[in-house]
Amino acid sequence: MNAPALLNHTPRVLVTRRWPAAVEAELAERFDTVFNVEDKPMSRAEFREALTHFDAILPTVTDTLDAEALDLDTARTGILANYGVGYSHIDTAAAKTLGITVTNTPDVLSECTADLAMTLMLMGARRAGEGERELRAGAWTGWRPTHLVGSKVSGKTLGIVGFGRIGLAMAQRAHHGFGMKIIVYNRSSVSQDVLDRYGAKQVETLDDLLPLCDFVSLHCPGGPENRHLIGSRRLDLMKPDAFLINTARGEVVDEHALAQALMFDCIGGAALDVFDGEPNIAPVLMDCDNLVMLPHLGSATQETRTAMGRRVLDNLVDFFDGREPGDRVA
Ligand code: DGY
Repeated sequence: MNAPALLNHTPRVLVTRRWPAAVEAELAERFDTVFNVEDKPMSRAEFREALTHFDAILPTVTDTLDAEALDLDTARTGILANYGVGYSHIDTAAAKTLGITVTNTPDVLSECTADLAMTLMLMGARRAGEGERELRAGAWTGWRPTHLVGSKVSGKTLGIVGFGRIGLAMAQRAHHGFGMKIIVYNRSSVSQDVLDRYGAKQVETLDDLLPLCDFVSLHCPGGPENRHLIGSRRLDLMKPDAFLINTARGEVVDEHALAQALMFDCIGGAALDVFDGEPNIAPVLMDCDNLVMLPHLGSATQETRTAMGRRVLDNLVDFFDGREPGDRVA
């Protein structure tokens, strides 16, 4: 890792997108900070340039910091302090080769992301997206017993894929709020007392989980190892009336396979907050009525976006004071 502290100048910091005003002001007070005033995503070439001019870069999910963007002999940048918990947009091995520390912002967004996953689950099951589209189109003809009949959520079985902080927050809401039975798939084993808190049962494989659940909510990391974790074979393992919810990363779901499953009623429906190649949306998804789509809003509350900024600030202060940043991931 680049020797952090001990710069004999105020660290020069680049913020790649606009942040809530309060945290931008705190950053500007503490560091020699440059903001991306136009709030446009930066190109790989701009990143390569920035890596030679700034002591810290504060990227986020819209920034591609892959091997190509990090293809330099040396960098001035000592830390990529990511604004967000997911960091699959950063090639951590390439960062390490350049001696760059990488941090993220866990914890502070778990509740709001789980809240949004619940929102999606309820919207999908209760056909809220279809209902709103119908009403706004002036096509609602009035109450009738057979109109937009959905699926009950309370008391059903929820499969949680990835039992980290956000998965736990989802279990809390679903089990204690909606009386749902919880089944967990997680790479490592979860202790019995944690499972007992949510009346949850852990299964060995994802293939074991899928046929048992009425709802499946994804809370695992993105990146190459989980690319298309849910594809046509696994969609076939789901119950024909089950729902898939993705607030993790777009690449975790094979969107073309999902569209096929939705169009041929192989599953009941799906709800997505994240997309492969976002903000571009695969056109085939637009044709699926039994699909709810939101524009990556998981952490989008005033409180959480401010807390994420403060968490980045804490990591930066630790780094430049010569301490190990609390949220170092590489
Ligand atoms: C996260 O924190 O990972 C959100 O998805 C935004 O990047």
